[in-house]
Amino acid sequence: MTPPDYEYLRKLLRDHSGLDLSADKQYLIESRLLPLARKAGLAGIGELVQKLKGGPIALVTQVVEAMTTNETFFFRDKVPFEHFRDAIMPDVLRARANRKSVRIWCAAGSTGQEPYSLAMSLKEMGAALAGWRVEILATDLSQDVLEKSRAGIYSQFEVQRGLPIQLLVKYFKQQGELWQINADIRAMVQHRQFNLLHDFSQLGTFDVIFCRNVLIYFDQETKSNIFGRLAKTLEPDGFLVLGAAETVVGLTEAFRPVSDRRGLYRPNDVRAAPARVLNVNVAAPRMAAAVAGP
Ligand SMILES: C[S@@+](CC[C@H](N)C(=O)[O-])C[C@H]1O[C@@H](n2cnc3c(N)ncnc32)[C@H](O)[C@@H]1O
Repeated sequence: MTPPDYEYLRKLLRDHSGLDLSADKQYLIESRLLPLARKAGLAGIGELVQKLKGGPIALVTQVVEAMTTNETFFFRDKVPFEHFRDAIMPDVLRARANRKSVRIWCAAGSTGQEPYSLAMSLKEMGAALAGWRVEILATDLSQDVLEKSRAGIYSQFEVQRGLPIQLLVKYFKQQGELWQINADIRAMVQHRQFNLLHDFSQLGTFDVIFCRNVLIYFDQETKSNIFGRLAKTLEPDGFLVLGAAETVVGLTEAFRPVSDRRGLYRPNDVRAAPARVLNVNVAAPRMAAAVAGP
């Protein structure tokens, strides 16, 4: 791959998904994009770049999706789900006792293990949530992962990663070598394609936001910008949960850590501050339109 081709792809990925590749990730591009180029009948990365410059949005979408890392598993890192059960939900049950509704956003839900882990956790709370309206919105940039998430069908390997056996037995049905999560759990999760670089206001406000293991791929400016906008889309007494390698420290004043609860944050009062969407270039809305779905 020539240096100009690499720079072109780096910029394209940064503008469309926020992915911030360092100067030495040529191997990553090649391993992910060569198969895609060949499938499109192109000889290599050079031809792929030429074609991308012609502007076919579907190809841009394929390139962006091929470069996303979709690694996830049930109850990933355990601790966030303990926070959810032991700190977040008890607080929500008190604070929303009159309204009896809770809105949760899984902001990079990938293939569904994270939103379904939350849905099973809520189901396990049983009577405490009787009569409540519970909404879990799972969004992701990638249509491919959302499709899998909607289907809720997982391999033996996937259900063995992080999922306690009693929850597997209780909430899944075996279909040959695969397992499908039950319809009532699937019905608790709504899916929507959504790019974190875009305006959040169309999503409404949430009591809880899980935004885990996605910001690590972005540069500092993009992270700060997203934190500012997340704070505005969270209720003032809401909760933000980040991944184990992520923090707000040094990046934003919009959130403060909850003491003794690693990865858990509450918003500061930032509603008066302006929230500017970053990075949305001319191509981004076109791509959103091309890949948007229910
Ligand atoms: C590593 S997975 C994390 C999944 C899950 N949150 C977890 O922690 O297990 C990162 C996900 O972020 C999605 N993603 C990457 N860039 C995004 C963007 N700009 N907007 C929304 N989702 C994005 C990817 O498609 C991928 O599914």
